[in-house]
Amino acid sequence: MATQAHILSSLLLFSLIACACALKSVPPTCERIECPSYDVVDQGNGFEIRRYNSTVWVSTAPIEDISFVEATRTGFLQLFNYIQGKNAYNETIEMTGPVITQVSPSDGPFCASSFVVSFYVPKKNQADPPAADGLHLQKWGPTFAAVRQFSGFVSDDTLGEEAAALYLSLQGSNWASAVDQGRKADPTSSYTVAQYNSPFEFSGRVNEIWMLFSQGSINKM
Ligand SMILES: *[C@@H]1O[C@H](CO)[C@@H](O)[C@H](O)[C@H]1NC(C)=O
Ligand SMILES: *[C@@H]1O[C@H](CO)[C@@H](O)[C@H](O)[C@H]1NC(C)=O
Repeated sequence: MATQAHILSSLLLFSLIACACALKSVPPTCERIECPSYDVVDQGNGFEIRRYNSTVWVSTAPIEDISFVEATRTGFLQLFNYIQGKNAYNETIEMTGPVITQVSPSDGPFCASSFVVSFYVPKKNQADPPAADGLHLQKWGPTFAAVRQFSGFVSDDTLGEEAAALYLSLQGSNWASAVDQGRKADPTSSYTVAQYNSPFEFSGRVNEIWMLFSQGSINKM
């Protein structure tokens, strides 16, 4: 009996340690709805490097606003109407995750930033997604993302800190220069915010900051 208890507690300890080590996990939302699949290429202190194969997104025009939260709400409503059938085929489209916002910060403190909000198009619609007024498609080739996860509601006050924390955590890693190359290659978007929960879910919320780069940036390392 004593041995069994010992084995049990060792197992328990082991699983606790295993949980602490696995900092990143697939957001729970993706067990319910379709999310783009990815491979984990590397994990570091405070970040994860993922490779996404080709993905298709339906995106808003750039939204100028001083608030990320407001801009994302505005964009999300357009995308919600789109999946509810306000599109060229009058077709409803399955909800997916995440909703992403590509952020281009302004130069000055009181100037509007620019935000593009996008919905991940489910695999079954990717070959021929319906068009819609004011929205456009983005087709990404294979793309790498340096990722930081954080919980709660995304707030305008702390978003910059989360992005800076990801950037800092990459410094000194093998990925710092690829991420810098990626940011130079796409000056219109300095980082992307991925949100996995509806506004009505108050607990277990998962968000991510993504800094994107391509295979080409890695080759230049
Ligand atoms: C991405 O594509 C590669 C090459 O075709 C394949 O080996 C890999 O399993 C794919 N990954 C995912 C997550 O689909
Ligand atoms: C979509 O609905 C509108 C308004 O009801 C209609 O005018 C249009 O013909 C429909 N389009 C298709 C492709 O069914």
